[in-house]
Amino acid sequence: MESNSRRKFIRTIGLGSAFLALKGQVYAASKKTVQKPVVLATWYNQATRANEAAWKVLSEQGRALDAVEQGVRVTESETENCCVGLNAMPDRDGIVTLDACIMDEFNNCGSVAAIEQIDHPISVARLIMEKTPHVMLVGAGAQQFAVANGFKLKGLKLTPGQEAAYKAWREKSHYEPVKNIEKGEHGPFAPEIMESGEYNHDTIGMIAIDSKGNLSGACTTSGMAYKMHGRVGDSPIIGAGLFVDNEVGAAVATGVGEEVIRICGSHLVVEFMRQGLSPEVACRKAVERIIKKSPKNLGDSQVGFLAINKMGEYGGYAIREGFDYAVCTSQLHNQKVNAKFLL
Ligand code: GLY
Repeated sequence: MESNSRRKFIRTIGLGSAFLALKGQVYAASKKTVQKPVVLATWYNQATRANEAAWKVLSEQGRALDAVEQGVRVTESETENCCVGLNAMPDRDGIVTLDACIMDEFNNCGSVAAIEQIDHPISVARLIMEKTPHVMLVGAGAQQFAVANGFKLKGLKLTPGQEAAYKAWREKSHYEPVKNIEKGEHGPFAPEIMESGEYNHDTIGMIAIDSKGNLSGACTTSGMAYKMHGRVGDSPIIGAGLFVDNEVGAAVATGVGEEVIRICGSHLVVEFMRQGLSPEVACRKAVERIIKKSPKNLGDSQVGFLAINKMGEYGGYAIREGFDYAVCTSQLHNQKVNAKFLL
């Protein structure tokens, strides 16, 4: 009798797992081998070069944390980059301000926001994580900390391409930049500028699992082009732009940061994975949440999420078409993936 019940119980469990797997909603962790190492990063065109640097670390049995830092540093250094690093697009006052964050397998995290004239905000974020009792430094204080730790100030000059684009934007938007920031003279807040579609931008978000099965992530951006001076998006906010829980998985976001912050996007994705959802379905549910909860008309705003779980399974999802990413595994070398989308 007892063994009959036990057999029945095992059969029921088996059927349940098969059903859930068919629905594509759950992964049966115990039955699969862990795929590792794996690294993936947002926006295929920039992600490939960043992934190369990250893969070098991972393929030499390095730590995921080092891989993601080394990876996104490549993008931060690129001279032809609209949206990451000091060569990126400025805010509406012509100043490039950068946001970044990083998180490791021990729940350590570091973040920097609205930092100016520093070329590797991701490494400043890592130093904040490792050398201070804090998680986040912003603006002048972050710059002071960076300089005290050996970073050089890089000057404010925009690249000729960014300068021309900025001038064209100012003409089109009729925006007068700040004349004297110390005296608090600001240009008008012009909401119509924010709705004009000029705010398309992206970020590099990278997540990885290393050969020991540990997870880490990094995220770095100049934020929205022509944003208000002082605006901070999701990218440096732990839980919004990036979240890592080494027991469960990691997620990163890209796109309009305000939408991501409102739902604590990356944390939400990780929590969905904790409930048993696959990385792709977890990302899709976070996108659904944005669409459902956004207090404003989303217009043509884009948000994309990437996620990886403890088994090395990965996935992504976006609000709309056009979000792609690059993946490296032992089988795939910078595989391009076009994320599924909802609208
Ligand atoms: N996701 C980057 C930003 O909104 O600043």
